[in-house]
Amino acid sequence: MLNIIQAFQRQKDIYIKGISGWRSPIPFNSNKLRQKAQKFMSETTWAYIDGGAGDEATIARNRSAFDQITIAPRFMRDNTDADFSTEIFGTKLHSPFLLAPIGALDMVCKDADIHIAKACAATDTPYVFSNQGGNSMEACSAAMGHTDRWFQLYWSKSDELVLSLVKRAEASGCKAIVLTVDTTMLGWRARDLSLSYLPFLKGYGIGQYTSDPVFNQYVKNGWHPEEAVAVKPVITFETIKHIFELKSNFKGSLKDAMASVQLFTRIYTNPALNWEQVTWLKSKTSLPVLIKGILHPEDAVLAQKAGADGIIVSNHGGRQVNGAISTIEMLPQIRKVVPQPFKVLLDSGIRNGSDVFKAMALGADAVLLGRPYAYGLAIDRQSGVETVIRNIQNDFELTSRLSGCRNLQEITSECLTS
Ligand code: FNR
Repeated sequence: MLNIIQAFQRQKDIYIKGISGWRSPIPFNSNKLRQKAQKFMSETTWAYIDGGAGDEATIARNRSAFDQITIAPRFMRDNTDADFSTEIFGTKLHSPFLLAPIGALDMVCKDADIHIAKACAATDTPYVFSNQGGNSMEACSAAMGHTDRWFQLYWSKSDELVLSLVKRAEASGCKAIVLTVDTTMLGWRARDLSLSYLPFLKGYGIGQYTSDPVFNQYVKNGWHPEEAVAVKPVITFETIKHIFELKSNFKGSLKDAMASVQLFTRIYTNPALNWEQVTWLKSKTSLPVLIKGILHPEDAVLAQKAGADGIIVSNHGGRQVNGAISTIEMLPQIRKVVPQPFKVLLDSGIRNGSDVFKAMALGADAVLLGRPYAYGLAIDRQSGVETVIRNIQNDFELTSRLSGCRNLQEITSECLTS
Protein backbone atom coordinates (compact mmCIF):
# COMPACT_ATOMS: atom_id res chain seq x y z
CA MET A 1 0.00 0.00 0.00
CA LEU A 2 1.50 3.33 -0.98
CA ASN A 3 0.51 6.31 1.08
CA ILE A 4 2.54 8.93 -0.71
CA ILE A 5 0.04 10.07 -3.26
CA GLN A 6 -2.46 10.74 -0.51
CA ALA A 7 -0.82 13.52 1.48
CA PHE A 8 0.76 15.22 -1.49
CA GLN A 9 -2.37 15.06 -3.64
CA ARG A 10 -4.68 16.19 -0.85
CA GLN A 11 -2.42 19.07 0.07
CA LYS A 12 -2.44 20.15 -3.57
CA ASP A 13 -6.25 19.82 -3.80
CA ILE A 14 -6.67 22.01 -0.72
CA TYR A 15 -4.45 24.77 -2.14
CA ILE A 16 -6.11 24.63 -5.55
CA LYS A 17 -9.60 24.82 -4.04
CA GLY A 18 -8.37 27.85 -2.11
CA ILE A 19 -8.02 29.72 -5.41
CA SER A 20 -11.84 29.81 -5.56
CA GLY A 21 -12.06 30.87 -1.94
CA TRP A 22 -12.70 27.46 -0.35
CA ARG A 23 -11.62 26.92 3.25
CA SER A 24 -11.88 23.69 5.22
CA PRO A 25 -14.67 23.78 7.81
CA ILE A 26 -12.44 21.57 9.98
CA PRO A 27 -9.49 23.53 11.39
CA PHE A 28 -6.08 21.96 10.82
CA ASN A 29 -4.65 23.30 14.06
CA SER A 30 -5.70 21.03 16.93
CA ASN A 31 -6.38 23.90 19.37
CA LYS A 32 -8.54 25.66 16.80
CA LEU A 33 -10.38 22.39 16.10
CA ARG A 34 -11.14 22.11 19.81
CA GLN A 35 -12.24 25.75 20.09
CA LYS A 36 -14.52 25.48 17.08
CA ALA A 37 -16.08 22.23 18.31
CA GLN A 38 -17.12 23.87 21.57
CA LYS A 39 -19.45 26.16 19.61
CA PHE A 40 -21.34 23.12 18.33
CA MET A 41 -22.00 21.50 21.71
CA SER A 42 -24.17 22.26 24.69
CA GLU A 43 -22.44 23.22 27.93
CA THR A 44 -22.97 19.77 29.44
CA THR A 45 -21.86 17.87 26.32
CA TRP A 46 -18.72 19.99 26.06
CA ALA A 47 -17.91 19.45 29.74
CA TYR A 48 -18.30 15.69 29.41
CA ILE A 49 -16.20 15.35 26.26
CA ASP A 50 -13.52 17.93 26.83
CA GLY A 51 -13.23 17.60 30.59
CA GLY A 52 -11.20 15.33 32.81
CA ALA A 53 -10.45 14.45 36.40
CA GLY A 54 -9.88 17.12 39.05
CA ASP A 55 -8.07 20.24 37.89
CA GLU A 56 -7.08 18.42 34.69
CA ALA A 57 -3.35 18.39 35.37
CA THR A 58 -3.05 15.09 33.48
CA ILE A 59 -4.86 16.43 30.43
CA ALA A 60 -2.29 19.25 30.33
CA ARG A 61 0.60 16.87 30.91
CA ASN A 62 -0.57 14.58 28.10
CA ARG A 63 0.13 17.48 25.77
CA SER A 64 3.21 19.04 27.36
CA ALA A 65 4.97 15.65 27.44
CA PHE A 66 4.47 15.22 23.69
CA ASP A 67 5.66 18.77 23.05
CA GLN A 68 8.87 18.19 24.98
CA ILE A 69 9.90 15.32 22.72
CA THR A 70 11.76 16.57 19.68
CA ILE A 71 12.37 15.04 16.28
CA ALA A 72 15.77 15.19 14.56
CA PRO A 73 14.84 15.03 10.84
CA ARG A 74 17.25 13.45 8.37
CA PHE A 75 17.40 14.43 4.69
CA MET A 76 18.84 13.36 1.34
CA ARG A 77 17.37 9.86 1.58
CA ASP A 78 15.22 8.90 -1.34
CA ASN A 79 11.75 8.29 0.02
CA THR A 80 9.76 8.80 -3.15
CA ASP A 81 8.13 5.50 -2.27
CA ALA A 82 6.83 5.11 1.23
CA ASP A 83 4.40 2.84 3.01
CA PHE A 84 3.33 3.36 6.61
CA SER A 85 0.69 0.67 6.75
CA THR A 86 0.77 -2.13 9.29
CA GLU A 87 -1.27 -5.04 10.55
CA ILE A 88 -2.18 -5.86 14.14
CA PHE A 89 -4.11 -9.03 14.97
CA GLY A 90 -5.19 -9.31 11.34
CA THR A 91 -6.44 -5.71 11.40
CA LYS A 92 -5.14 -3.63 8.55
CA LEU A 93 -4.05 -0.11 9.42
CA HIS A 94 -3.51 2.33 6.61
CA SER A 95 -1.60 4.58 9.01
CA PRO A 96 -0.69 3.33 12.48
CA PHE A 97 -3.79 4.54 14.26
CA LEU A 98 -7.32 3.44 15.12
CA LEU A 99 -10.17 5.45 16.55
CA ALA A 100 -10.36 5.14 20.33
CA PRO A 101 -13.58 4.02 22.01
CA ILE A 102 -15.51 7.12 23.08
CA GLY A 103 -18.82 6.59 24.82
CA ALA A 104 -21.96 8.70 24.97
CA LEU A 105 -21.27 10.60 21.76
CA ASP A 106 -24.99 10.41 21.05
CA MET A 107 -25.01 13.54 23.22
CA VAL A 108 -23.41 15.28 20.25
CA CYS A 109 -25.86 14.06 17.63
CA LYS A 110 -28.24 11.23 16.89
CA ASP A 111 -26.56 8.09 15.53
CA ALA A 112 -23.13 9.51 16.32
CA ASP A 113 -21.45 6.09 16.29
CA ILE A 114 -22.90 5.35 12.86
CA HIS A 115 -21.50 8.63 11.49
CA ILE A 116 -18.12 7.65 12.94
CA ALA A 117 -18.30 4.09 11.59
CA LYS A 118 -19.07 5.44 8.11
CA ALA A 119 -16.16 7.88 8.32
CA CYS A 120 -13.92 4.96 9.28
CA ALA A 121 -15.20 2.92 6.35
CA ALA A 122 -14.57 5.85 3.97
CA THR A 123 -11.00 6.29 5.20
CA ASP A 124 -10.21 2.63 5.81
CA THR A 125 -9.55 3.30 9.49
CA PRO A 126 -10.28 0.70 12.18
CA TYR A 127 -12.68 1.77 14.93
CA VAL A 128 -12.87 0.48 18.50
CA PHE A 129 -16.57 0.43 19.40
CA SER A 130 -17.21 1.69 22.91
CA ASN A 131 -19.12 -0.40 25.41
CA GLN A 132 -20.83 2.91 26.22
CA GLY A 133 -21.82 3.64 22.62
CA GLY A 134 -25.18 5.05 21.71
CA ASN A 135 -25.60 2.64 18.79
CA SER A 136 -25.34 -1.12 18.99
CA MET A 137 -22.18 -2.84 17.78
CA GLU A 138 -24.31 -4.69 15.20
CA ALA A 139 -25.49 -1.39 13.67
CA CYS A 140 -21.96 0.04 13.73
CA SER A 141 -20.52 -3.12 12.15
CA ALA A 142 -23.03 -2.90 9.32
CA ALA A 143 -21.87 0.68 8.66
CA MET A 144 -18.20 -0.35 8.69
CA GLY A 145 -18.46 -2.66 5.67
CA HIS A 146 -15.12 -4.43 5.22
CA THR A 147 -13.20 -2.07 7.48
CA ASP A 148 -11.88 -3.69 10.63
CA ARG A 149 -13.32 -3.01 14.07
CA TRP A 150 -12.62 -4.00 17.65
CA PHE A 151 -14.91 -3.99 20.66
CA GLN A 152 -14.08 -2.23 23.92
CA LEU A 153 -15.46 -3.97 26.98
CA TYR A 154 -16.25 -2.68 30.43
CA TRP A 155 -16.47 -5.50 32.92
CA SER A 156 -19.85 -5.08 34.54
CA LYS A 157 -21.03 -6.74 37.75
CA SER A 158 -22.52 -9.61 35.73
CA ASP A 159 -20.19 -12.10 34.02
CA GLU A 160 -23.20 -13.31 32.06
CA LEU A 161 -23.60 -9.83 30.56
CA VAL A 162 -19.84 -9.61 29.89
CA LEU A 163 -19.96 -12.88 27.99
CA SER A 164 -23.02 -11.82 26.04
CA LEU A 165 -21.24 -8.63 24.88
CA VAL A 166 -18.13 -10.60 23.92
CA LYS A 167 -20.12 -13.14 21.90
CA ARG A 168 -21.96 -10.32 20.12
CA ALA A 169 -18.60 -8.73 19.31
CA GLU A 170 -17.39 -12.01 17.81
CA ALA A 171 -20.59 -12.35 15.78
CA SER A 172 -20.29 -8.74 14.55
CA GLY A 173 -16.86 -9.41 13.07
CA CYS A 174 -14.82 -7.51 15.68
CA LYS A 175 -11.20 -8.61 15.49
CA ALA A 176 -10.15 -7.94 19.08
CA ILE A 177 -11.53 -7.25 22.53
CA VAL A 178 -10.18 -4.23 24.36
CA LEU A 179 -10.77 -4.58 28.07
CA THR A 180 -10.61 -1.17 29.74
CA VAL A 181 -9.39 -1.56 33.32
CA ASP A 182 -8.94 2.03 34.46
CA THR A 183 -12.63 2.82 34.87
CA THR A 184 -13.88 0.41 37.50
CA MET A 185 -15.40 3.58 38.92
CA LEU A 186 -15.75 7.04 37.39
CA GLY A 187 -13.00 9.60 38.04
CA TRP A 188 -13.75 12.75 40.05
CA ARG A 189 -14.64 14.96 37.10
CA ALA A 190 -14.89 18.54 38.26
CA ARG A 191 -16.70 19.95 35.24
CA ASP A 192 -19.41 17.27 35.20
CA LEU A 193 -19.84 17.51 38.96
CA SER A 194 -20.22 21.29 38.71
CA LEU A 195 -23.06 20.81 36.24
CA SER A 196 -24.43 17.76 38.15
CA TYR A 197 -24.44 16.00 34.82
CA LEU A 198 -23.94 12.38 33.79
CA PRO A 199 -25.06 11.55 30.23
CA PHE A 200 -26.12 7.99 31.05
CA LEU A 201 -28.88 9.23 33.32
CA LYS A 202 -30.49 10.79 30.26
CA GLY A 203 -30.23 7.57 28.33
CA TYR A 204 -27.11 8.52 26.34
CA GLY A 205 -24.35 5.94 25.94
CA ILE A 206 -26.36 2.86 26.84
CA GLY A 207 -27.05 1.49 23.35
CA GLN A 208 -24.86 -1.60 23.78
CA TYR A 209 -26.84 -2.48 26.89
CA THR A 210 -30.36 -1.84 25.65
CA SER A 211 -29.57 -3.99 22.58
CA ASP A 212 -28.31 -6.85 24.73
CA PRO A 213 -30.56 -9.86 25.40
CA VAL A 214 -29.05 -10.57 28.83
CA PHE A 215 -29.40 -6.93 29.92
CA ASN A 216 -32.97 -6.81 28.68
CA GLN A 217 -33.80 -9.99 30.57
CA TYR A 218 -32.53 -8.30 33.73
CA VAL A 219 -34.65 -5.23 33.00
CA LYS A 220 -37.68 -7.45 32.56
CA ASN A 221 -37.18 -9.90 35.39
CA GLY A 222 -35.04 -7.90 37.80
CA TRP A 223 -31.39 -8.31 38.65
CA HIS A 224 -30.25 -8.82 42.26
CA PRO A 225 -31.85 -6.91 45.09
CA GLU A 226 -32.03 -3.16 44.61
CA GLU A 227 -29.61 -1.15 46.69
CA ALA A 228 -31.26 1.70 48.54
CA VAL A 229 -30.95 4.88 46.43
CA ALA A 230 -29.33 7.53 48.59
CA VAL A 231 -30.81 10.57 46.85
CA LYS A 232 -34.01 10.76 44.86
CA PRO A 233 -34.55 13.75 42.58
CA VAL A 234 -37.20 16.24 43.64
CA ILE A 235 -39.71 16.99 40.91
CA THR A 236 -38.93 20.32 39.26
CA PHE A 237 -39.25 21.70 35.74
CA GLU A 238 -35.73 20.33 35.10
CA THR A 239 -36.87 16.85 36.19
CA ILE A 240 -39.68 16.92 33.62
CA LYS A 241 -37.22 18.06 30.91
CA HIS A 242 -34.88 15.24 31.96
CA ILE A 243 -37.66 12.67 31.63
CA PHE A 244 -38.60 13.95 28.15
CA GLU A 245 -34.97 13.77 27.02
CA LEU A 246 -34.60 10.28 28.42
CA LYS A 247 -37.74 9.11 26.64
CA SER A 248 -36.63 10.63 23.32
CA ASN A 249 -33.35 8.65 23.56
CA PHE A 250 -35.15 5.37 24.03
CA LYS A 251 -37.28 3.27 21.68
CA GLY A 252 -39.47 1.54 24.31
CA SER A 253 -41.79 2.84 27.00
CA LEU A 254 -40.81 5.44 29.58
CA LYS A 255 -41.07 2.75 32.25
CA ASP A 256 -38.53 0.58 30.40
CA ALA A 257 -36.30 3.60 29.75
CA MET A 258 -36.19 4.40 33.45
CA ALA A 259 -35.65 0.75 34.38
CA SER A 260 -32.80 0.44 31.84
CA VAL A 261 -31.02 3.55 33.09
CA GLN A 262 -31.40 2.45 36.68
CA LEU A 263 -30.06 -1.01 35.94
CA PHE A 264 -27.20 0.46 33.91
CA THR A 265 -26.08 2.64 36.80
CA ARG A 266 -26.10 -0.36 39.13
CA ILE A 267 -24.38 -2.83 36.85
CA TYR A 268 -21.86 -1.07 34.59
CA THR A 269 -18.81 -0.76 36.83
CA ASN A 270 -17.05 -3.45 38.81
CA PRO A 271 -14.34 -2.42 41.28
CA ALA A 272 -13.62 -6.10 41.98
CA LEU A 273 -11.99 -6.55 38.55
CA ASN A 274 -8.67 -8.46 38.74
CA TRP A 275 -6.18 -10.31 36.55
CA GLU A 276 -7.89 -13.70 36.99
CA GLN A 277 -10.83 -12.34 35.03
CA VAL A 278 -8.49 -11.66 32.10
CA THR A 279 -7.46 -15.31 32.12
CA TRP A 280 -11.14 -16.29 32.30
CA LEU A 281 -11.98 -13.98 29.40
CA LYS A 282 -9.18 -15.51 27.33
CA SER A 283 -10.66 -18.95 27.96
CA LYS A 284 -14.04 -17.78 26.67
CA THR A 285 -13.06 -16.07 23.42
CA SER A 286 -10.90 -16.87 20.45
CA LEU A 287 -10.33 -13.14 19.86
CA PRO A 288 -7.13 -11.41 20.95
CA VAL A 289 -7.56 -9.44 24.18
CA LEU A 290 -5.85 -6.09 24.83
CA ILE A 291 -5.82 -4.41 28.24
CA LYS A 292 -6.48 -0.67 28.02
CA GLY A 293 -5.46 1.71 30.76
CA ILE A 294 -1.96 0.44 31.59
CA LEU A 295 0.40 3.06 33.04
CA HIS A 296 2.80 1.01 35.19
CA PRO A 297 5.45 -1.40 33.83
CA GLU A 298 4.49 -4.01 36.45
CA ASP A 299 0.88 -3.97 35.26
CA ALA A 300 2.13 -4.48 31.72
CA VAL A 301 3.95 -7.62 32.86
CA LEU A 302 0.91 -8.81 34.82
CA ALA A 303 -1.31 -8.28 31.78
CA GLN A 304 1.02 -10.42 29.71
CA LYS A 305 1.17 -13.09 32.41
CA ALA A 306 -2.64 -13.16 32.63
CA GLY A 307 -2.70 -14.08 28.95
CA ALA A 308 -3.46 -10.73 27.31
CA ASP A 309 -2.24 -10.37 23.74
CA GLY A 310 -1.43 -6.69 24.07
CA ILE A 311 -1.92 -3.53 26.08
CA ILE A 312 -2.98 0.02 25.46
CA VAL A 313 -0.95 2.48 27.48
CA SER A 314 -3.61 5.01 28.39
CA ASN A 315 -4.69 7.37 31.15
CA HIS A 316 -8.16 7.65 29.60
CA GLY A 317 -7.33 11.11 28.30
CA GLY A 318 -6.77 12.41 31.83
CA ARG A 319 -10.34 11.58 32.84
CA GLN A 320 -9.63 9.16 35.66
CA VAL A 321 -6.68 10.04 37.93
CA ASN A 322 -5.76 13.70 38.09
CA GLY A 323 -2.00 13.81 38.50
CA ALA A 324 -1.43 10.52 36.68
CA ILE A 325 1.68 10.43 34.52
CA SER A 326 1.34 11.01 30.78
CA THR A 327 1.38 7.92 28.62
CA ILE A 328 4.19 9.00 26.30
CA GLU A 329 6.48 9.45 29.33
CA MET A 330 5.78 5.88 30.47
CA LEU A 331 5.97 4.23 27.06
CA PRO A 332 9.75 3.52 26.93
CA GLN A 333 9.77 1.89 30.39
CA ILE A 334 6.72 -0.18 29.56
CA ARG A 335 8.03 -1.27 26.17
CA LYS A 336 11.26 -2.43 27.83
CA VAL A 337 9.48 -4.95 30.07
CA VAL A 338 7.10 -6.26 27.40
CA PRO A 339 9.24 -6.40 24.25
CA GLN A 340 8.09 -7.29 20.75
CA PRO A 341 6.17 -9.25 19.56
CA PHE A 342 3.83 -8.30 22.46
CA LYS A 343 1.60 -5.51 21.16
CA VAL A 344 1.82 -2.13 22.86
CA LEU A 345 -0.52 0.63 21.72
CA LEU A 346 -0.90 4.09 23.22
CA ASP A 347 -3.43 6.89 23.52
CA SER A 348 -4.05 10.10 25.49
CA GLY A 349 -2.92 13.34 23.94
CA ILE A 350 -2.53 12.37 20.27
CA ARG A 351 -3.41 15.54 18.35
CA ASN A 352 -1.06 15.68 15.34
CA GLY A 353 0.78 13.42 12.94
CA SER A 354 3.99 14.24 14.78
CA ASP A 355 2.52 12.78 18.01
CA VAL A 356 1.86 9.52 16.16
CA PHE A 357 5.45 9.63 14.90
CA LYS A 358 6.86 10.18 18.40
CA ALA A 359 4.84 7.33 19.89
CA MET A 360 5.99 4.98 17.11
CA ALA A 361 9.60 6.09 17.62
CA LEU A 362 9.33 5.24 21.32
CA GLY A 363 8.09 1.73 20.66
CA ALA A 364 4.31 1.78 20.12
CA ASP A 365 2.85 -0.58 17.52
CA ALA A 366 0.04 1.89 16.86
CA VAL A 367 -1.91 4.64 18.63
CA LEU A 368 -5.54 5.54 19.20
CA LEU A 369 -7.00 8.86 18.25
CA GLY A 370 -9.53 10.20 20.77
CA ARG A 371 -11.08 13.63 21.35
CA PRO A 372 -10.09 15.19 17.98
CA TYR A 373 -12.52 12.95 16.09
CA ALA A 374 -15.29 13.79 18.56
CA TYR A 375 -14.62 17.46 17.82
CA GLY A 376 -14.83 16.73 14.08
CA LEU A 377 -18.13 14.93 14.65
CA ALA A 378 -19.57 17.94 16.48
CA ILE A 379 -18.65 20.32 13.66
CA ASP A 380 -19.57 18.29 10.59
CA ARG A 381 -20.82 14.78 11.51
CA GLN A 382 -19.41 11.99 9.27
CA SER A 383 -17.58 14.42 7.06
CA GLY A 384 -16.00 16.11 10.08
CA VAL A 385 -14.69 12.80 11.41
CA GLU A 386 -13.41 11.87 7.94
CA THR A 387 -11.52 15.13 7.62
CA VAL A 388 -9.94 14.81 11.05
CA ILE A 389 -8.80 11.27 10.17
CA ARG A 390 -7.38 12.35 6.80
CA ASN A 391 -5.60 15.31 8.36
CA ILE A 392 -3.82 13.10 10.89
CA GLN A 393 -3.03 10.48 8.21
CA ASN A 394 -1.54 13.10 5.89
CA ASP A 395 0.29 14.96 8.64
CA PHE A 396 1.79 11.70 9.89
CA GLU A 397 2.88 10.71 6.40
CA LEU A 398 4.57 14.03 5.70
CA THR A 399 6.19 14.20 9.15
CA SER A 400 7.59 10.70 8.64
CA ARG A 401 8.87 11.31 5.13
CA LEU A 402 10.28 14.72 6.00
CA SER A 403 12.08 13.06 8.90
CA GLY A 404 13.73 10.66 6.47
CA CYS A 405 11.56 7.55 6.94
CA ARG A 406 9.98 5.29 4.34
CA ASN A 407 8.17 2.82 6.56
CA LEU A 408 7.31 2.15 10.19
CA GLN A 409 10.44 0.08 10.78
CA GLU A 410 12.55 3.15 10.09
CA ILE A 411 10.74 5.18 12.74
CA THR A 412 12.89 4.46 15.79
CA SER A 413 14.24 6.34 18.79
CA GLU A 414 17.15 7.34 16.50
CA CYS A 415 14.71 9.77 14.89
CA LEU A 416 14.36 11.70 18.17
CA THR A 417 16.88 13.87 19.98
CA SER A 418 18.52 12.33 23.09
C1 FNR B 1 -13.40 8.24 26.55
N1 FNR B 1 -12.60 7.11 26.67
C2 FNR B 1 -13.19 5.87 26.76
N2 FNR B 1 -12.43 4.76 26.86
C3 FNR B 1 -12.97 3.53 26.91
O1 FNR B 1 -12.26 2.55 27.00
N3 FNR B 1 -14.34 3.41 26.81
C4 FNR B 1 -15.17 4.47 26.72
O2 FNR B 1 -16.38 4.32 26.63
C5 FNR B 1 -14.59 5.75 26.73
N4 FNR B 1 -15.37 6.86 26.69
C6 FNR B 1 -14.81 8.11 26.60
C7 FNR B 1 -15.62 9.23 26.51
C8 FNR B 1 -15.04 10.48 26.30
C9 FNR B 1 -15.94 11.66 26.15
C10 FNR B 1 -13.64 10.60 26.19
C11 FNR B 1 -12.99 11.92 25.89
C12 FNR B 1 -12.84 9.50 26.32
C13 FNR B 1 -11.14 7.20 26.62
C14 FNR B 1 -10.63 7.10 25.19
O3 FNR B 1 -10.77 5.81 24.69
C15 FNR B 1 -9.15 7.50 25.09
O4 FNR B 1 -8.43 6.74 26.02
C16 FNR B 1 -8.93 8.98 25.35
O5 FNR B 1 -9.89 9.73 24.65
C17 FNR B 1 -7.55 9.40 24.93
O6 FNR B 1 -7.31 10.74 25.29
P1 FNR B 1 -7.39 11.95 24.22
O7 FNR B 1 -6.33 11.73 23.22
O8 FNR B 1 -8.74 11.88 23.62
O9 FNR B 1 -7.21 13.18 25.03
